[in-house]
Amino acid sequence: MSDNKFVKKIACIGAGYVGGPTMTVIANFCPDYQVTVLDISQERIDQWNSDDLPIFEPGLKERVLKARGQNLFFSTDIGRCIDEADIIFVAVNTPTKTFGEGAGKAVDLQYIEQTARRIKENSKSDKIIVEKSTIPVRAAETLSKILHSGNNSIHFEILSNPEFMAEGTGIHDMENPDRILIGSMGTPSGQAARDELIKIYERWVPPEKLITTNLWSSELSKLVSNAFLAQRISSINSISGLCEVTEADVDEVARAVGKDSRIGPKFLRAGVGFGGSCFRKDILNLVYLCEHFGLQPVADFWGQVIAMNDYQMERFVQRMLKAMFNSVVNKKIALFGFAFKPDTGDTRDSPAIYVSKMLLKERARLYITDPHALKNAQRDLEGMEGEIVYEPDPYKAAEGAHAIALMTEWDQYKNLDYKRIFDSMEKPAFLFDGRNHLDHQALFDLGFNVHSIGKPDRTQFDDPS
Ligand code: NAD
Ligand code: UGA
Repeated sequence: MSDNKFVKKIACIGAGYVGGPTMTVIANFCPDYQVTVLDISQERIDQWNSDDLPIFEPGLKERVLKARGQNLFFSTDIGRCIDEADIIFVAVNTPTKTFGEGAGKAVDLQYIEQTARRIKENSKSDKIIVEKSTIPVRAAETLSKILHSGNNSIHFEILSNPEFMAEGTGIHDMENPDRILIGSMGTPSGQAARDELIKIYERWVPPEKLITTNLWSSELSKLVSNAFLAQRISSINSISGLCEVTEADVDEVARAVGKDSRIGPKFLRAGVGFGGSCFRKDILNLVYLCEHFGLQPVADFWGQVIAMNDYQMERFVQRMLKAMFNSVVNKKIALFGFAFKPDTGDTRDSPAIYVSKMLLKERARLYITDPHALKNAQRDLEGMEGEIVYEPDPYKAAEGAHAIALMTEWDQYKNLDYKRIFDSMEKPAFLFDGRNHLDHQALFDLGFNVHSIGKPDRTQFDDPS
């Protein structure tokens, strides 16, 4: 299939947060492979071909510019590129189903199925199909049935190669992965396909980090990884409430607990709750699978991770209300940050969406600031009743406000002139730190009433009790 210039041709279907960056990294490390990223959205592809990339990710733009037009291409010519490709990555979205059987839990596999049908229709030679999207365990079986249906003599070898990168550190994670997981069938053609994929990754990934398993273990490991990560966050968040009423400090508890090498320090940062496009969706998927296989207690166990996250967001708003004399009607509240985490403009399932909606229901006036996520914030809150202003300048967002609620731990929020901010605010001035990101003692000393996660409140009022 490949012409002389390139050893192999890779196509990736889905030019989103995963498809775009992963293929850019592969193109950078494999200049002898032609890599084409495909999407049904012309707008997305046009953005990938412009100076204004569709997603913000540190380090991404330089790497795209280095390879684009050399061995990295972005295109909507899906049929032709499928036909020419030796290896096809599938990185389309797999959202939670919003309708019919399994609504609110199961994965909506329509984009995966459409992709499989498109591959089948346009292939005239054998191909390796790589599942990059996160999908339910045994999805490869469905994929294989669709691809091999009818009297088609073409062979498609399916591999599972889940992506473990986190947004904001995506490029670093892909260039220095903890592991690359490849699941394949135990057949000779399965092993050969696996070796083809290893040839790509071994350009930059040390051999001990290349893990191979059977297909189903690989598919399931992705769901389980996200479930374990989210479970740690819900565990520490569950303890934060207890800290607030006992004068323990959740950061100190997390440090003490995390020092046990069997537990480790990562993913123990208490906060307003986890967000992002995957944790909730993947755990719901796990819950659905467990229910499907009659494992109700297991489904209930993982369901609690989400229940705790919902409770944490709700509790945050309740604390705001309580601190602000049980009413925020007409009060101006500045939301510092809207992205679900720093260094990304992504707001999917961001706790800021939940908090904003609750505050708007309580009739607060919202001034939202974020260095990269204001466009997405506007889309997320479209149609909501009430006053919402999107303000790039945090000083202006806080001017005249009764409270600041920090939703995203952007670095720049640490270094703001909080004296200037305090002076410009209504008094009493409140600061709710949903990420335990700021210097609470310094803010208290400036005159703020500071409420953070899992720490005693620091208020300027005399306690009458
Ligand atoms: P995304 O929504 O950003 O991108 C998906 C892209 O696929 C969209 O641009 C969409 O237009 C395109 N698409 C959908 N159907 C198509 C079709 N039939 N043909 C061509 N293009 C099509 O999604 P994402 O965040 O990149 O996630 C993709 C997958 O990767 C999901 O399964 C997700 O769970 C998984 N994942 C995401 C992350 C992350 O950080 N975002 C990390 C690891 C894994
Ligand atoms: C997560 C996983 O970390 C990735 O390995 C995985 O590939 C990805 O999901 C996916 O499948 O999409 P991501 O959601 O991009 O990555 O970002 P994380 O760093 O995991 O943060 C998720 C959320 O948890 C954020 O809202 C973050 O603020 C929150 N979080 C994280 C905490 O509240 N506390 C922590 O200690 C860590």
